[in-house]
Amino acid sequence: MIELENVSKTFGGQVALSNVSLKVERGDMAFITGPSGAGKTTLFKLLYLADKPDTGTITIAGCNAADVKSSYIPLLRRNIGVVFQDFKLLNNKTVYDNIALTLRIRGFMEREIKERVHSVLKMVNLRHKVDNYPLTLSGGEQQRITIARSIVGEPTVMLADEPTGNLDEENEKEIMRIFKQINAKGTTILIATHNRMLYKNTARKVFTLETGQLKDEEEE
Ligand SMILES: Nc1ncnc2c1ncn2[C@@H]1O[C@H](COP(=O)(O)OP(=O)(O)OP(=O)(O)O)[C@@H](O)[C@H]1O
Ligand SMILES: [Mg+2]
Repeated sequence: MIELENVSKTFGGQVALSNVSLKVERGDMAFITGPSGAGKTTLFKLLYLADKPDTGTITIAGCNAADVKSSYIPLLRRNIGVVFQDFKLLNNKTVYDNIALTLRIRGFMEREIKERVHSVLKMVNLRHKVDNYPLTLSGGEQQRITIARSIVGEPTVMLADEPTGNLDEENEKEIMRIFKQINAKGTTILIATHNRMLYKNTARKVFTLETGQLKDEEEE
């Protein structure tokens, strides 16, 4: 479902990824960890086709990234739910409109949109915040809205970049509960995190990056 083969990426002289190969099977939930600057966000940008590798092959949701025409990228992205490190919520739109946006672009009927938005908000326990604006929500609540937005289109793959950054333990647990639920419904998930607590004792695949290089795989 997600595969990198010998992927390298540099910015100027700065190596962000060096000869990285990894594979996440369909239906798996896997983690990618490593210190700040290790290359996690860069790897996600390549998977989301927001940038291109210098060398190597990337396959996501059944497509070879190099073969995807730029006009097809928005269509492919419908299969990829993304939780960005910096939320990227639209602050001048309500929670409802933030989540509905992607469905509106795709031409869904408002009735279907309403059903879906309420269903994902229920999943993240924030139905009562449907009419709020993002800046009136706590960091943890904004993070959960971001997750709701990423799954409302029912993607086959989900990429979550530091989804619990700056959250307390209670919110971390809540977010991991949501991810497990999404994964149990069949979505393949890759989570980038500094936080060992998220994958400790989960028996999931953990990839460790250090200055752009993948360390040997381990299971925790
Ligand atoms: N657009 C860019 N231009 C120049 N250098 C970049 C760019 N994007 C990333 N880098 C560099 O690539 C390296 C990897 O950055 P990246 O953002 O992937 O790290 P990260 O693992 O996500 O870190 P963090 O845990 O802090 O989010 C860093 O050295 C960074 O400075
Ligand atoms: Mg990052």
